[in-house]
Amino acid sequence: MALSFFAKNKKAIQARCRDDYPTKMRLKYAPFYHAMDGQKGTCVQLHGRDVIMLSSNDYLGLSFHPKVVEAARAALLKWGTSTNGARISNGSRRFHLELEEKLAAFLGREACHVHAAGYLSCMSAVASFAQKGDVIFADKNIHSCLWDGIRLSMATVERFSHNNPDDLRTVIAQTGTDAPKMLVVEGVYSMEGHIARLPEIAEIAEENGLFSVLDDAHGFGVLGRQGRGTADSFGLNDKVDVICGSMSKSLASIGGFVAASQEVIDYLRSHSKQTTFSAALSPAQAAASMAALEVMQTEPQHLERLWANTRKYKAILKNLGLDTWESETPAVPIVLGSKERVYPFWKTLLDRGVFTVMSIAPAVPAGKDLIRTAISAMHTDEQLEKIAEALAYAMKKL
Ligand SMILES: Cc1ncc(COP(=O)(O)O)c(C=O)c1O
Repeated sequence: MALSFFAKNKKAIQARCRDDYPTKMRLKYAPFYHAMDGQKGTCVQLHGRDVIMLSSNDYLGLSFHPKVVEAARAALLKWGTSTNGARISNGSRRFHLELEEKLAAFLGREACHVHAAGYLSCMSAVASFAQKGDVIFADKNIHSCLWDGIRLSMATVERFSHNNPDDLRTVIAQTGTDAPKMLVVEGVYSMEGHIARLPEIAEIAEENGLFSVLDDAHGFGVLGRQGRGTADSFGLNDKVDVICGSMSKSLASIGGFVAASQEVIDYLRSHSKQTTFSAALSPAQAAASMAALEVMQTEPQHLERLWANTRKYKAILKNLGLDTWESETPAVPIVLGSKERVYPFWKTLLDRGVFTVMSIAPAVPAGKDLIRTAISAMHTDEQLEKIAEALAYAMKKL
């Protein structure tokens, strides 16, 4: 009897998978999960032809930098392919500590902890510190990993309007509680390209005793001195309690970090499930991050080129009258407003040799359906011209 009950439920879930509408649509139109046959910087080979990559987050273009590639290769030969377990069970490796020290110093923090994915780091930066009974004030547009961290924490969540300090103030006043409080925001919002209004937001956090968590996945490497990030760009390093982020963007690797005071990181190492029960960052990825961090501090040309390219690209979009949601950074959405407009636009760009990614409601607010693009320091002038031609053609066909 019990067996048939479980068998029936298993089939119900199989049926859910088989009949799922979003999955059917994804398979029919195939906008995602394209398999590239090769890559060299911002050029990928797809179905036998060269295509310009305009949606990856290799902002500084370091994923093919000789020093970064060589560091990863050397680490692979010295340490092997994997760490094969969590640091709490089979130990840290020297390179973990070295990377953590370097990241902490770069960000002006006492300590840092690295994970095998940015998703784990950012989720952990929330879930490890907040608990049931606490209140978390979260910007409405934060990344999915932060929402997952909030859910795992079991704390009460209060949302405030995107990047709106006045609304944050109102929501805090309405909540009026003595419970421990946390603030969760991003430095640069990945979909919109907006920079957090950190001066006002950090002041409100300070006044109201909020423990602040800043996900700077898209600000790190892009803003601040040598790419130290959003807080640094405002001179507010000491006003943010925790900075977390990803190594899969400007650091041209894979993995994530949480940087804070020593006591906060020590607490994380005791309480973060993502830390204690997940295998440590691999040798090659740690070495790539470390080399990229070094390049960020010794070769300013990448950051300069990133911003020069961003200005050129934004001028192209402005000339074409495209709506970029007031993006202030190299993460640039092209808002088209409906999925009926987004899909053909995306497809035309691909046919003209430009690879982008579309994002439609509910992943973005209704009416903000968009093509998400991101500029890299590695895009060449010739590629930017081709992108301009493809965009103009896609506009004409709308
Ligand atoms: C704001 C933000 N936080 C965290 C992450 C997760 O980083 P990763 O992809 O390295 O796991 C991302 C990735 O897209 C992101 O955009």
